[in-house]
Amino acid sequence: MSGVTDDERAWWKEAVVYQVYPKSFADSDGDGVGDLGGVIDRVDYIDELGVDAVWLNPVYESPQADNGYDIADYRAIDDAYGDMEDWERLRDELHERDVRLIMDLVVNHTSDEHEWFRKSRREDGEYADYYHWVEGEPDELPNDWESVFGGSAWSWDDEREAWYLHLFDEKQPDLNWANPDVREAVYDMMEWWLGKGIDGFRMDVINMISKAEDYPDGGPDSDGAEHFMNGPRVHEYVGEMVEEVLDDESVLAVGETPGVSVDDAREYVSEDGDGLSMLFQFEHVTFDHGEHKFDADDPDLVEFKEILAKWQEGLADDGWNSLYLNNHDQPRMVSRFGSDGEYRRKSAKLLGTLTHTLGGTPFVYQGEEIGMTNAPFETREALRDVEVRNYVASAVDDAEGHADAYEDVREAVEAMSRDNARTPMQWTDEAHAGFTDGDPWIDANPNYAEVNVSRARDDPDSVLHYYRDLVALRERDLLVYGDFELLAPDDPDLFAYTRTLAGGDDESTERALVVLNFDDEPTTFEVPADVTVDGLELALANDDAPAVPGRALDLGPWEARVYLTPDPEAQAPDSAIDTER
Ligand code: NOJ
Repeated sequence: MSGVTDDERAWWKEAVVYQVYPKSFADSDGDGVGDLGGVIDRVDYIDELGVDAVWLNPVYESPQADNGYDIADYRAIDDAYGDMEDWERLRDELHERDVRLIMDLVVNHTSDEHEWFRKSRREDGEYADYYHWVEGEPDELPNDWESVFGGSAWSWDDEREAWYLHLFDEKQPDLNWANPDVREAVYDMMEWWLGKGIDGFRMDVINMISKAEDYPDGGPDSDGAEHFMNGPRVHEYVGEMVEEVLDDESVLAVGETPGVSVDDAREYVSEDGDGLSMLFQFEHVTFDHGEHKFDADDPDLVEFKEILAKWQEGLADDGWNSLYLNNHDQPRMVSRFGSDGEYRRKSAKLLGTLTHTLGGTPFVYQGEEIGMTNAPFETREALRDVEVRNYVASAVDDAEGHADAYEDVREAVEAMSRDNARTPMQWTDEAHAGFTDGDPWIDANPNYAEVNVSRARDDPDSVLHYYRDLVALRERDLLVYGDFELLAPDDPDLFAYTRTLAGGDDESTERALVVLNFDDEPTTFEVPADVTVDGLELALANDDAPAVPGRALDLGPWEARVYLTPDPEAQAPDSAIDTER
């Protein structure tokens, strides 16, 4: 038995979470938009992966200015996705298979079509201060804060004749969390969803809910972020929310927190912190950005390792990490951190090996498990996402109508656009990748004839089969709770580390050695002298590999190997935690 105590354990630490972006997952009614019926049809597929929970991106009523992150009614399902009965069926189908359901909580902002905003712009009674309003002149912005989607974070409202704040699109006005009525209304809504039997929340940009009073200008070269990222009262609000709504520790609360450092993160997730389970930090998916995200460089492996190791070590004794390399806002990981040509499969497996053998909770984004790649966007008309469309519009404006302006930015768009993550899930080699019988709202990646679930299912060497093995590996306490140590930090091609878990009374220490070659060329890893290889056995690899490691490991391009000491639980299965729902 491992020495992990019951206090240290939590279902969500031992879980693998699968992220479903419903608009792009599966369309059951032929209108070209994915829906809840489509997810229900694929519940067995999700279950077969072995994952423990699904995080469902927003399905609430929404005008879809930002694909559902602009919510008009928190307690209703958007017609495009189905209705509440469909949602309940999905919940039940998942729960019957012991798969938990995590809902997206978007409470930094609502849609401008939410009843609260409609009333607020009319200055209707208690709703007047539900949002951030600033009196003034229509030609004089309240300050220099910028929207994440480009342009000013303020829009003038003709009805109220005042400015309102929107850190995202103008159709996403920010809620005023300084108003206790807003907080109570949000907590009520959260209680309502918990009452419907959900198992947790993924909290959209939760570190942006508190804004500096009086809305000061940003400092030089700043878009004002220092006044609203981890703002002055954020811990008071998040702590209060946890106390009022999330006191049951079995509820998973994962905060999306762009721009947090490890020290910031501790305030949200440590023992003495606000009480969130874990965060989605952004350092490892933004370090390659230039002045803005569309100005990105190839990620440097040494820096990437340094960042991930810092997070592993920083939250090792107090707090918890999430593990992800892509999601609905990021390019496909195999195109960004791997190699999406000849080595697509091998590098997809290697990246999955990384996220499943670090400490923390792995999140698998739909399509990652079959090695889906970034897509070509040959014309600007093929783009759908508000952020990339704004970026292209401003780039084309800057080029003053020059005929090939889109061509100038196309490479950057194809590398970084969020639409890369949102092309339809590739199920088959039939039209539109089997995603819909109609016209899809966004084109499928043309590589679907080769990259699809049906083909992956039939191929024992597929990324899909490897992912099932990865998910199964997380059964080991060693990989969930073991200490992390980075090896060869300066090696530009190799990512290698150990995991170590002290045994209980009668067992010796468990050990893992993970070695990943992030390069198109073969390489050799000399295992450092202080790392013991005796007793290690091959548990998983994406190529033929020796069953036990020597002191020098010869690795082919994008080769990944996981060596483990034998599983003590295999002889004495006696898990202290009930992982069933
Ligand atoms: C983060 C979400 O993941 C993203 O998709 C959305 O556009 C913004 N927050 C605004 O809600």
